[in-house]
Amino acid sequence: MSNGVGIARAYPNMALVKYWGKRDEAMMLPAAGSISMTFDTYATTTRVELDPTAQSDTVELNGQVAGGDAAARVVAFLDIVREMAGSQSRAHTVTVNEAPTAAGLASSASGFSALAVAASRAYGLDLDQAALSRLARRGSGSAARSVVDGMAIWHAGDTDVESFAEPIDAPDMRLVIVTVNAAQKAVSSREAMRRTAATSPFYGEWVTCTEETLERMVAACASGGVDEIGRIAETHALRMHAVIQSCDPPIRYLSPRSHEIFDAVAALRDAGTTAWATADAGPNVAVLTTPAEADAVAGALADLGTVRVVGPGHGARAIDEETARA
Ligand code: PMV
Repeated sequence: MSNGVGIARAYPNMALVKYWGKRDEAMMLPAAGSISMTFDTYATTTRVELDPTAQSDTVELNGQVAGGDAAARVVAFLDIVREMAGSQSRAHTVTVNEAPTAAGLASSASGFSALAVAASRAYGLDLDQAALSRLARRGSGSAARSVVDGMAIWHAGDTDVESFAEPIDAPDMRLVIVTVNAAQKAVSSREAMRRTAATSPFYGEWVTCTEETLERMVAACASGGVDEIGRIAETHALRMHAVIQSCDPPIRYLSPRSHEIFDAVAALRDAGTTAWATADAGPNVAVLTTPAEADAVAGALADLGTVRVVGPGHGARAIDEETARA
């Protein structure tokens, strides 16, 4: 069923086992699997409306007409959906990110998972969660995981069909997002992954260690505590930043302030608090902790950035016009 309109809402996710590197760039198959928590905060709301009379797609982002790479990625994604649906129709896509743009949290994961749900509905495709995850993956790898509620495991797979995310049980946890101001202009994750795979002497070891880490994290989520999950996550995050820093020309995403936050988190642990740090391809830091300790951790880190406690939230899903306006 479709009247040519699809509206969806999705949230970013933070990886506790990181995705960094592809085995197949055209199909967006990752070199290894990964695990993340989908947020309950920083929604992206996307509306796709078909226009059979239009000559080209239009893309609006936060009230402004988008061009360049951002629009090209949306059009390339819609081409995939059109091919699946056997349609030639162009579409108007309107996206609003709740996260402050300057905060660097308006992520491609919430964007492409919302677009996967909205566009597939607009084009009349009836996709289950695994199929939506595969589709979202084609826009941005990490978007495969934002289709899933709460904790998600993305199976690397050898083929398109095998590479999708699904839910995984884990203890109830919180992330304290510490947004660092003065975000530097970063190299895109797409370019940085390419460069890491092509030039880091440690890339092969990184892939092997990620496969091992994934197994340990699955076991820790099933039966371990937040401290065990956090220790695995922080170690793996620092290994990702190490392999990124080892490419040529070099790339560094962590700023001096990010390192200060990692130090402050280590001091919290020394004082008996459950707190473990992680960071994606940028200077912002997310601190994994328990629901009971989240406010205290946020308070302790408030001098180092803008803090916000996020919990496990909904995977990308269709919403109606009324909910979209609210
Ligand atoms: O999906 P992309 O291309 O934005 O890559 C995401 C890479 C990291 O955020 C650094 C790690 C991850 O697993 O999300």
